[in-house]
Amino acid sequence: MRVLVSGGAGYIGSHTVVQLVAAGHEVVIVDNFANSKPSVVNRLEALTGEHLPVHAFDLRDHDKTELLFANEHIDAVIHFAGLKAVGESVELPLEYYENNLGTTFSLVRAMQRHGVDKLVFSSSATVYGLDQEAATEDRPTSATNPYGWTKVMQEQILRDVAVANPAMRFALLRYFNPVGAHVSGTIGEDPQGIPNNLVPYIAQVAVGRREYLSVYGDDYPTRDGTGERDYIHVEDLAAGHLAALTRLGTMDEPVGVWNLGTGRSTSVLEMLHAFERAVGHELPHRVVGRRAGDVAVSYADPHKANAELGWATTRSVDDMCVDTWRWQQANPNGFPD
Ligand code: NAD
Ligand code: UD1
Repeated sequence: MRVLVSGGAGYIGSHTVVQLVAAGHEVVIVDNFANSKPSVVNRLEALTGEHLPVHAFDLRDHDKTELLFANEHIDAVIHFAGLKAVGESVELPLEYYENNLGTTFSLVRAMQRHGVDKLVFSSSATVYGLDQEAATEDRPTSATNPYGWTKVMQEQILRDVAVANPAMRFALLRYFNPVGAHVSGTIGEDPQGIPNNLVPYIAQVAVGRREYLSVYGDDYPTRDGTGERDYIHVEDLAAGHLAALTRLGTMDEPVGVWNLGTGRSTSVLEMLHAFERAVGHELPHRVVGRRAGDVAVSYADPHKANAELGWATTRSVDDMCVDTWRWQQANPNGFPD
C-alpha cells in the first residue's frame, strides 16, 4: 500500500515508517515539524535506503491537505500528528483542541473526497481516565485533562464518521507507555526541553544532561510504593500499526479498538534499576512528592489485540533500556538541527 503517515517525523511515526518500508509499503510523510526536526527524515532515508516524499505543512490547512491527496495516490493513512504533552494541554487547552481535532477533520475530509477508506489512529490509554488497571477496550472512556479529552473526542468523531460512511474502516489504537528506540541507535525519542516522561528523563540523567531523577512519590499502594506503568517498546508498538493496517483490509465492522501494551507493569524504581543495568552503574535519584494527576497503576489487557491483530510484544524492559541508552549515547543532544 501507499501509506500517508501524518506526524511521520515524530517519535512513534518515525519508527513506524521504517517498518512500513521494510514490509514493502510506500510511505508519504506529512509533518509540520512542530515537535520534530527535518533531520529525522535524513536518518529515515539512511535506514530505509529509500527516498521518502515529505510534505512540510500544518495538517489543519485544508487546501494543502486537499492538494496532497490530489497529487499523491494514497491507499491508507496512519494519523500520528498531534500535540501530546499533558501539562502543556492544561495551560493551552485551545491549542490542543484546535490542533488535535483540526488535523483529524482535515485528514478525514480529504480521505472522503478522494475515496481513501482506511485510517489507523493514535489514541492513548489516557482515554481510560482514572480506571487504568488491566484496562479492557470495552471500558467507558473519559479523561482528566484537555489532551486526554482530545483523544476521547477524536475517537468519537471517527466512530460517527464511520456510521455516515459505511465503506470507511478505522483502527483506534490505545497506546500505553511507548519507550525505547530503533536498534541502530540512529532514531529515538528527542523531547524538546525538560522531559516530562520517565524514561527520557532517566536517559538524560545517564548522559549527564540532568543531575538526578525525581521519583514522584513512593507511597502508592504498589509493589515498592512507586507508580507502575505498562511500558511498550516503540518497535513493538510500530509493529502493532502494521498489524492494524492489515486487519483494516478484512474487517466487517467499521471501527476496531485495540490496546497496545504488554499487560505487565513496571515501577519507577524497577525501570530506574533496569536502566542502571544498561548503563553499567547506579544513577542518582531523589524521592519527591507525587505529581498531580498521576494514577498509581496503569496497564493494558492486550488480549484483544493479540487475538484479533495476531500481534504481541516481544521486547523486554531491559531491551527498552539498552536501546534507549544506545540512542541517547550516540545522540546526547538528540537529532541535529
Ligand atoms: P511526536 O510529537 O514525537 O510526533 C508527533 C508529530 O506530529 C511531530 O513530528 C509533530 O511535528 C507533528 N505534528 C503535530 N501537529 C501537527 C500538525 N498540525 N500538522 C502536521 N504535523 C503535526 O509524538 P509521538 O510520541 O510520536 O506521538 C504520536 C501520536 O501518538 C500522538 O498523537 C500522541 O498523542 C499519541 N500518543 C503518544 C504517546 C507517547 O507517550 N508518546 C502515548 C499515547 C499516544
Ligand atoms: C504520561 C501522561 C499520559 C500519557 C503517557 C504517555 C501525565 C500526567 N500523563 O503518563 O497522559 O498517555 O505519559 O506515555 O503526564 N515519573 C517520575 N519522575 C519523572 C517522570 C515520571 O517518577 O521525572 C513517574 C510518574 O509519576 C509515573 C511514571 O514515572 O509513575 C511514568 O510517568 P510518565 O512517563 O510521565 O508516564 P505516565 O504518567 O503514564
